[in-house]
Amino acid sequence: MSIRKAIIPAAGLGTRMYTSTKSIPKEMLPLMNRPIIEHIVRDAVRSGIEEILVIISRGKESIIDHFSPIEHINKELKKKDKFNAIIEIEELNNLCKMEYVYQEELRGLGDAILLAKDFVKQEGFAVLLGDNIVESYGDETTLQSMMKVYERFSSSCIGTQRVPLDIVHRYGVMDGVEIEEGLYRTRGWVEKPSANNAPSDIVVAGQYIFTPSIFDVLEHTPVGKNGEIQITDAMDRLAKNEQVFAYKINGKRHDMGNLLSYIKSMVEFALKDDKLRDPLSSWIEATLSKDKYRRR
Ligand code: G1P
Repeated sequence: MSIRKAIIPAAGLGTRMYTSTKSIPKEMLPLMNRPIIEHIVRDAVRSGIEEILVIISRGKESIIDHFSPIEHINKELKKKDKFNAIIEIEELNNLCKMEYVYQEELRGLGDAILLAKDFVKQEGFAVLLGDNIVESYGDETTLQSMMKVYERFSSSCIGTQRVPLDIVHRYGVMDGVEIEEGLYRTRGWVEKPSANNAPSDIVVAGQYIFTPSIFDVLEHTPVGKNGEIQITDAMDRLAKNEQVFAYKINGKRHDMGNLLSYIKSMVEFALKDDKLRDPLSSWIEATLSKDKYRRR
């Protein structure tokens, strides 16, 4: 009954970060000294995930390279006695069993998730969006908290957060009732509604756990918002057939697909690093005190 498999959809073009993401997948942009997707994979492994399928598209092969041994790099590192780098790469290559599949035509997140049907088979599974890092404030990861809900009810569980109403149009939005602190039984979901049409201010925060019945629903989900097959539309249908829960995450979601949020996360992660905190804070204070950087 436990969740062992996760899929990471990473096929999208990442145009919000253009042109930096034209030939570098947005999932490969650095956050500190690791690419974003490595943070996601490490969090998944820490949560108990054993196998990961990454959905990529043409031009995003550097994601495969990142998690695979590359012979000439190993040879060079050995020649130069770079033992620490060799150990780090060795660990990276063995983080988790990784597989990859191409989404040939970018027909939306729902279509990408449907490509995982053969990989998942008849088990519950997690979906971890490739441009979201979900930090937890507690001892367990957010994914582990969601796994507990899945195990308790044998039902899908969607990680959510409350956002100001004026930005709900960026998200999948929940309609449901709170059954206990931070846990909702959902009635439906709407992809990117306007504030006026939003059923609530509780939105999808980038991590999902689904029962395998989501695949049957996805196979019959028509094209929706932006001409794409939306996972949110499939969740709406699923919630009408079986229980779907929304879990309010006890942590912070970092949206890596948006420049301001990306920069904020980079600074936040650096300020949490023992070696970087002091020199970075002093530099920020000194810089902000200069006239040309004062807030206007
Ligand atoms: C996707 C989903 C949306 C979700 C969001 C979270 O949208 O379609 O429902 O709330 O991720 O990041 P995107 O950000 O890819 O437009």
